[in-house]
Amino acid sequence: MNLEQQSKKTLDAWQASARYWDKYRALIAQMFAPLTSGLIEEARIGIDQTVLDIGGGSGEPSLTISEIVGPTGSVIYTDPVAGMVETAQAEAGRRDLANIQFKQCSADDLPFADETFDAAVGRLSAMFFVDPVTALREALRVVRNDGYVSFAVWSPKEVNPFFSTVNDVVDRFVESPKEDPDAPDAFRFAAPGKLAANLENAGAEQVIESKLNFRIEAAISFEQFWQLRTEMSESLRKQMAGLAPAQLPAIKQAAADAAKRYFVTGQMSFPAQALIVTGRKPAG
Ligand SMILES: C[S@@+](CC[C@H](N)C(=O)[O-])C[C@H]1O[C@@H](n2cnc3c(N)ncnc32)[C@H](O)[C@@H]1O
Repeated sequence: MNLEQQSKKTLDAWQASARYWDKYRALIAQMFAPLTSGLIEEARIGIDQTVLDIGGGSGEPSLTISEIVGPTGSVIYTDPVAGMVETAQAEAGRRDLANIQFKQCSADDLPFADETFDAAVGRLSAMFFVDPVTALREALRVVRNDGYVSFAVWSPKEVNPFFSTVNDVVDRFVESPKEDPDAPDAFRFAAPGKLAANLENAGAEQVIESKLNFRIEAAISFEQFWQLRTEMSESLRKQMAGLAPAQLPAIKQAAADAAKRYFVTGQMSFPAQALIVTGRKPAG
C-alpha cells in the first residue's frame, strides 16, 4: 500500500468512528484526562498562550486547554477528518467557548505560518500520522523558537488491558489482519524510543520521553464497557461484523471473564500506560 492509499484507509476509518467518539465524548474526556494533564505539563501550557492541537478528534485536549489558556489565549484545533471537526466544533459551541478555532487539515500539511504557536500537542494522534517525520517537522515549523511540541501515545498493549482484554478474546474467534508494524495503528509508537527518535529526526532538541502510569476509570459496568469498546474501535467493529450472531454470547462471556478483575468495585478501573514524548524547537 502506498502512502496515499494508507492515508485514505486511515482517514476513512476515523470518519466511520467519529459518531462513536462523539457518543462517548464525556467518558473519553474522563478516561483519558491524565493524558491531557501530562501534555499540558510537559508542553508548559499556561495562561495567554496560543496552542495548536493536532488530531483533536472529538475535542480533547483542545477543550481542556481552552480553559487553561483563558480568554486572552487561544487554541487552534485541527483534524483531517470532517466528522471529527464537526463534532468537536459543535461541542465548543454548546460550551460557548470563544477562544477555539477549528481547521480541517492533516498533520503533515499544516496551513499555518512559521512560528504561529507557543506550543503544539497531540493526544493519541501521532500513531496515525501516515508520514510521522514530515508531520513532526510541520509541528516544529509552526511553533515559536524554543517552543515545545508534545505527543501522547500508548505503551504496548500488554500493559494496557483496556484494549487487550477485549482484543485478545475477539482475536481468538476472528483472525485480525496482520499489519506492518510501521503502519498507522494505536500501538505503532509503543516501543520506548521510537517516537522520540522520529522527533529528533524531525529536528527537535531536548527530546524527553516520560512514561505515564495511570488508571482508566469510569463509573460504568462491564456491559457498558463492552459496548463502548466494540463501537469505538474500527478494527473491532470489522471483526465483530464477520462473526455469526450465534458466536456472540460466548465471546462476550469470555471477555467478561477476562475483564472481571477490572470491575471488582462495580466500576471500571484498568491500569494503563502511555508515553509522553516532548521536544523543543531549536532557538532561532
Ligand atoms: C485516537 S483519536 C484521538 C482523538 C483525540 N485527540 C483524543 O485524544 O480523544 C486519533 C485522531 O487522530 C486523527 N488523525 C488521523 N490521521 C491524522 C493525520 N494525518 N493528521 C492529524 N490527525 C490525524 C484522527 O482523525 C483522530 O481524530
